[in-house]
Amino acid sequence: MSKVLDHKVTIITGAGSGIGEEMAKLFSSEGATIVVVDVVPERVDKTVAAIRSKHGTVYGMVLDLTKKDDIKKLVDDSVKIFDHIDILCNNAGIMDGFYSLEETEEEWWDKVLNVNLKAPYLTTKMAIPHMMHNGGGTILNTSSVAGLYGGRAGLAYTVSKHGLIGFTKHVAAYYGDKGIRCNAMALGAVNTQIGYGSGKPSPLGLKVLEKTTGSMGRPADPQEIARTALFLVSKDSSYINGSVLVADNGWTVY
Ligand SMILES: NC(=O)c1ccc[n+]([C@@H]2O[C@H](COP(=O)([O-])OP(=O)(O)OC[C@H]3O[C@@H](n4cnc5c(N)ncnc54)[C@H](O)[C@@H]3O)[C@@H](O)[C@H]2O)c1
Repeated sequence: MSKVLDHKVTIITGAGSGIGEEMAKLFSSEGATIVVVDVVPERVDKTVAAIRSKHGTVYGMVLDLTKKDDIKKLVDDSVKIFDHIDILCNNAGIMDGFYSLEETEEEWWDKVLNVNLKAPYLTTKMAIPHMMHNGGGTILNTSSVAGLYGGRAGLAYTVSKHGLIGFTKHVAAYYGDKGIRCNAMALGAVNTQIGYGSGKPSPLGLKVLEKTTGSMGRPADPQEIARTALFLVSKDSSYINGSVLVADNGWTVY
């Protein structure tokens, strides 16, 4: 019996942990060929081993998405090994300690923007010619409700996730007629080890966040988000392009 993602060559960044790890395992169980990407070697090994234990086809790559040469290698090797790319999930991301403008040092601004926004720009820019050559493809970007509102994270993260949504819509607008769909998920709180990134969270940032957390309820399991992602990369969402699917347990309806 054919599966939802049978033989779809799928790159997932940040697939060594949390949401990306669950996406990798779920997509593999639905027949996809997975390229697992993460900067932490043990995490890559863990996800690759989990997929292999279920007889999935997988290739692990330890690389740093803040390095352009690493991204080039990712795209080149994926095509060399698996012939083409069907699906690209720009999922890797880091948090920013809920730092305000005054607390955000330039170095930290660069780091967050490089991982959360510049890396998706580079991976997509390098993958899209291959997708066009292959007659189409699907891109899924992991954004956040911090990409829609101002008080859900620190400055750098908020800017990066707003940027990722603009990026999503632009790519959808320009490449939709080439058979390429590009969508984003705007996630609320998800139970992963993403943490505060920069160390101790800013008390000022946490105070701002507190104003909005009353309506948040429980955090999501990363498996729940993986199922949302599966919908957005599969044919079930074939008419959805340039959309931002909010998965936040109703956190932002109030
Ligand atoms: N957890 C949440 O509450 C939440 C909420 C909204 C959005 N998100 C977004 O979901 C995505 C996944 O986050 P998660 O919660 O699963 O976190 P996570 O920390 O569990 O997973 C992220 C992975 O990305 C990897 N990574 C970080 N920098 C990298 C780099 N330079 N090169 C390669 N890999 C790198 C990390 O090693 C990690 O394994 C992120 O984009 C995050 O911003 C998370």
